[in-house]
Amino acid sequence: MTQDELKQAAAQAALDYVEEGSIVGVGTGSTANHFIDGLARMKDRIAGAVASSEASAERLARHGIRLFDLNDVNAMPVYVDGADEIDSSLAMIKGGGGALTREKIVAAVAGRFICICDESKLVKTMGRFPLPIEVIPMARAQVARELTRLGGKPVLRTGFVTDNGNMILDVHGLSITDPVGLETSLNQIVGVVTNGLFARRGADILLLATTRGVERHSRATQ
Ligand code: 5RP
Repeated sequence: MTQDELKQAAAQAALDYVEEGSIVGVGTGSTANHFIDGLARMKDRIAGAVASSEASAERLARHGIRLFDLNDVNAMPVYVDGADEIDSSLAMIKGGGGALTREKIVAAVAGRFICICDESKLVKTMGRFPLPIEVIPMARAQVARELTRLGGKPVLRTGFVTDNGNMILDVHGLSITDPVGLETSLNQIVGVVTNGLFARRGADILLLATTRGVERHSRATQ
């Protein structure tokens, strides 16, 4: 199976978690795109969707799926999205597609975060994938200095502007042994809009597509 076929298998498995008549939170990226295409086949059985990016909103609209503004939504049973890396506690690095801020906001409203990944995304320790950080443009250099002090090597994502009009710094060279602690401290840097660690609110369920089938992992509850 190719990596794209594995992504498709994970996305297909997530359709089982979509509740009839509900509003579905929808992520961004190639795996989320497969989920959107699957959702289109059951669009008459859902109320609609909240998108985490302009790109996903366009794809949903092309399929004729009704879009909701998050501010008009009180309850959303599930949010379905991919990840760039995920560890065994179901903490994730996200933002490879630059949609991390809206992804984190939509996920915060959802009852459950269903992460859909191919098996290459499961890692022991996160950090090989550069950690995306969305920054206010005027704070770029100051945030980069702070990130360097923390031991990272920030690289500006050139030619890229987020849906919110901001910039992305991709931070290389971090070994993320304390995802919750690092997510919290990065949030304290003035000028950071969002960091791509999703650890304080990680995934609740991981649907991991492997060549042997789709595995289901649940977050351990303390
Ligand atoms: C976008 C994301 C994506 O979920 C992440 O980059 C994974 O993408 P893909 O499904 O294309 O591998 O966080 O901001």
